[in-house]
Amino acid sequence: MRIWVNGELRDAEDAMVSVLDHGLTVGDGIFETVRTVDGRPFALTRHLGRLTRSARGLGLPDPDLDEVRRACADVIDANPMALGRLRITYTGGLSPLGSDRGKAGPGLVVALGEAARRPDTTAVITVPWTRNERSALAGLKTTSYAENVVALARAHEHGASEALFANTAGQLCEGTGSNVFVVLDGQLHTPPVASGCLAGITRALAVEWTGAQETELPFDVLERAEEIFLTSTLRDVQAVHRVDGRELPGGPGPVTAKAMRIFDERAGDDLDP
Ligand SMILES: Cc1ncc(COP(=O)(O)O)c(C=O)c1O
Repeated sequence: MRIWVNGELRDAEDAMVSVLDHGLTVGDGIFETVRTVDGRPFALTRHLGRLTRSARGLGLPDPDLDEVRRACADVIDANPMALGRLRITYTGGLSPLGSDRGKAGPGLVVALGEAARRPDTTAVITVPWTRNERSALAGLKTTSYAENVVALARAHEHGASEALFANTAGQLCEGTGSNVFVVLDGQLHTPPVASGCLAGITRALAVEWTGAQETELPFDVLERAEEIFLTSTLRDVQAVHRVDGRELPGGPGPVTAKAMRIFDERAGDDLDP
């Protein structure tokens, strides 16, 4: 495994960042996860756009996107694999202990790991913890992900692969690493970005390609939705066959099946939509 660290490719054993990096000490960093198929990244331009938006949201300097693209290409070339998870991490860099950021400048790491094709359907749970739609970090893809670590572990304890959050207003928001869509009266809806969810790249493509509406939805919509699906970079469109104790059409249902088909077709036609 060869990893890009601050300007060069290194073997995994030598790919080091300082223990005083602000990403490690206080979670002051941002990231992107990009799917690669046979050595080609999917939707890289959209991911790099979000990387810049996240950097601005944290007050980090804009990443040099030519450098990030070069790093991605070098890492992909150095680690051939069929299906990969390309991870771009950009951190606050060397800093004093505490929340003030240092002046050394940001750090950039790009790594690639093998990914497995996701099952077509999955189980999810709801969790009592909330997303804060008024947080300074709302909508930013930061490395401060420990809340997701806790919620995802809870999901696994219950035989599920994802945990869904409400926001502080009691509206449906998102999963630990995915966006959520529901079917009501045959119509497809997903929470708006104002709910505090991440503006998922897969979510945006699914909205464009299926005509799903962005709608504020109460959290208990999960108790009556006819169908539910998740979207994320590594899930694409994935049907939900169980929410907490409630079984859903796992087949998947007709609206979900159509969204999966459209997504597969369109994503196959254009690698950088
Ligand atoms: C909190 C959160 N929501 C949603 C998503 C889905 O976004 P994307 O489709 O860009 O992978 C992610 C990404 O993994 C995420 O971390």
